[in-house]
Amino acid sequence: MSTISVLGCGYLGVTHAAGMAELGHQVIGVDVDIAKIAALAGGRSPFFEPGLDELISRNIAAGRLSFTTSYEEAAAADVHFLCVGTPQRDGGAADMSYLDAVVETLAPFLVKECLIVGKSTVPVGTAARITSMLRVLAPAGEAVSVAWNPEFLCEGKAVSDTLHPDRLVLGVPDERAEKVLREVYAPIIDAGVPVVVADLPTAEVIKTAANSFTATKISFINAIAEFCEASGADVTVVSEALGYDARIGRQFLNSGLGFGGGCLPKDIRAFQARAYELGVGQALAFLAEVDAVNLRCRERVVEYLRKQCGGAFTGRRIAVLGAAFKGGTDDIRDSPALHVANIVSAQEGEVAVYDPQAMSNARRAFPHLVYENSVLEAVRGADAVAVLTDWPEFVTLNPYTLGDEARSRNIVDARHALDPTQWLRAGWNYIAPGRPALQ
Ligand code: UGA
Repeated sequence: MSTISVLGCGYLGVTHAAGMAELGHQVIGVDVDIAKIAALAGGRSPFFEPGLDELISRNIAAGRLSFTTSYEEAAAADVHFLCVGTPQRDGGAADMSYLDAVVETLAPFLVKECLIVGKSTVPVGTAARITSMLRVLAPAGEAVSVAWNPEFLCEGKAVSDTLHPDRLVLGVPDERAEKVLREVYAPIIDAGVPVVVADLPTAEVIKTAANSFTATKISFINAIAEFCEASGADVTVVSEALGYDARIGRQFLNSGLGFGGGCLPKDIRAFQARAYELGVGQALAFLAEVDAVNLRCRERVVEYLRKQCGGAFTGRRIAVLGAAFKGGTDDIRDSPALHVANIVSAQEGEVAVYDPQAMSNARRAFPHLVYENSVLEAVRGADAVAVLTDWPEFVTLNPYTLGDEARSRNIVDARHALDPTQWLRAGWNYIAPGRPALQ
């Protein structure tokens, strides 16, 4: 079994640290945020992720998982995973300052042979740059190797994605690094998960290509939704039929409000920025259109709501159901739901938000919105209701109960979460993007 440090305790880092401990390794998670480390050491994840608290507590109790703010303590490990964020800078490129800071802080403590493994999503060339930094900064010099092992987990099912991934991508400079990573992942590899061994730049590109492909797939169906609306066709039926084609597949063909979150939007922008730096901007220029289609989804939903409110939001109350960027998480980074809420609020609508998990994050980021403790309270007195996040609890909402609370029975089902027949029968004016007007 290996000794592992995981640098950065965000969504990715915490799940990876707990997952590696579950595989039997001795793992230490490191972060500069003292409050976060205290929560983790007490067995609590600092964010909502199904199954993660149990995984953390179980592995702490087994003595395989600990957390610290000390890089010196972490440096004793043989394998160091870099799991810090690479957020978007102005202009779209990735901000590498957190990653660079972690490498610079760790490097002086690296006095013995070890492997640094990048997991963060980065512009191609980063692994080579970090290798050069470490040659200068790490006392162990050439005994410190750098590998890149991108992560493909989805929030909301991060635990199972970590322990049962679709594939492992091992970006390695040599056979020695490959051997170390194969040992780390031995239980997963032995279970038959495919392994793709690549050089460093290829591993870096695989990750941004995967996120760009899924973003493109979502924007494709949202562009078709716009076309369906103009032509009287129904995009949900188009998705169903396309999904049966094995070459296409049904996943990521859910149209509606488009993609958000801390990954897809910023990754397609950083990918384009890097392509321009490399002189091949034209090759990825289509991603600008993917981005534009995606942002238009949000504007279109605002437009449906405005129509339902009689042409203006002033003096109107809009119930916004959902604040997280998707169901199953409390993450509100680039949340399409909160983007819509903020546009409506900027146009003088009273926005009442409810989300099963993301209320405190949303309240902290956007204190000017109104937050209610339940769907019914949000809908009370509303002139229109917007279902903006695909939480399972919204699927089963009762149109009659909600109808008794709302001032007007107007609903925009931006995630195709509801059964239109039921809502129409209960007297609601029902609009869903990409579907013909239903009576
Ligand atoms: C995404 C990728 O799917 C992961 O593979 C990747 O590891 C991760 O980013 C990352 O780079 O760390 P995640 O951000 O958790 O994962 O969310 P997704 O499940 O990809 O959903 C992204 C957005 O697309 C959400 O807002 C979701 O509502 C939306 N979406 C998804 C759709 O609008 N339609 C769909 O059919 C699917």
